[in-house]
Amino acid sequence: MSFPAERPRRLRRTERLRAAVRETRLGPENLIYPLFVVPGEGVRREIPSLPGCFHLSVDEVAREARDVESQGIMGVLLFGLPVGKDPVGSEGYADDGVVQQAVRAIRSECRDLVVVTDVCLCEYTSHGHCGVVEAGTVQNDETLPLLARMALSHARAGAHVVAPSDMMDGRVGAIRSALDAGGFAETPILSYAAKYASAFYGPFREAADSAPQFGDRRGYQMDPANVREALREVRLDVEEGADMVMVKPALAYLDVIRAVKEQFDRPVAAYNVSGEYAMVKAAAARGWVDEDRMMREILTSIRRAGADVILTYHARDFARRS
Ligand code: PBG
Repeated sequence: MSFPAERPRRLRRTERLRAAVRETRLGPENLIYPLFVVPGEGVRREIPSLPGCFHLSVDEVAREARDVESQGIMGVLLFGLPVGKDPVGSEGYADDGVVQQAVRAIRSECRDLVVVTDVCLCEYTSHGHCGVVEAGTVQNDETLPLLARMALSHARAGAHVVAPSDMMDGRVGAIRSALDAGGFAETPILSYAAKYASAFYGPFREAADSAPQFGDRRGYQMDPANVREALREVRLDVEEGADMVMVKPALAYLDVIRAVKEQFDRPVAAYNVSGEYAMVKAAAARGWVDEDRMMREILTSIRRAGADVILTYHARDFARRS
């Protein structure tokens, strides 16, 4: 037999051949675009740490959402910056809070776009932690009713999906009970099940003004060294009623995405977080990398690892050039 017997290059010779044997497909229908809602009117301000993304007031967010919908993107994930913060994050669960208003505005403008809300107190608390603080530590069980209240107020405003990102133990169960009791048994929960205490959230904390005022989040978010613990977190959330489970961040945790995909029968989401986005943008601004190709390669890798849905700040750029 002549050497080499196998020549994988044969199937790489033309784009049509390559397309036919391509193993991973990714379209805008798999992507969720995060939006940051701020108080006021007519506000559309670029976020310095997230170039190409904007702080938007309620009136502007509806317009942005319509554009996102027209690009064929699956949905949006809403974060809010309140008028004022307090120790218990009251504006987070107020029926006239910015996110609740934004949900109503988007739902009245968009027919198909999936509206997902982030359920967490950190943008709304004066101390910047994801739960109620007593004696310098975040109190798990005292936080649960507030998260449940927040999720319910989002559902009441018209959110299609609620996504708790706080990492308190038992919050998926608490939210499921509150939704069921409130008449929202059909509202799914996308839980940030394996959320790591990550340096990759840096640009987001500036965008959401949610950096903790003391300490850090390592007492509730996961240790980046652990993967077995991620499976335990996912199992608990699934047992409590999570409909979809998320791994966050994505790029440094592709092995975790793969493990979750293989061991559970729930759809898997992955959050391509702010720091991952900012690195690409910063390098591209210096002319060091080809932004478009790099973005596609990154999103493809997350999908290849097993993500059904990717939350990403690149969504609009991806869809624009697809
Ligand atoms: C809130 C929350 C964070 C992110 C999403 N929801 C920040 C954090 O936990 O500090 C990060 C998103 C990103 O970096 O893009 N708990």
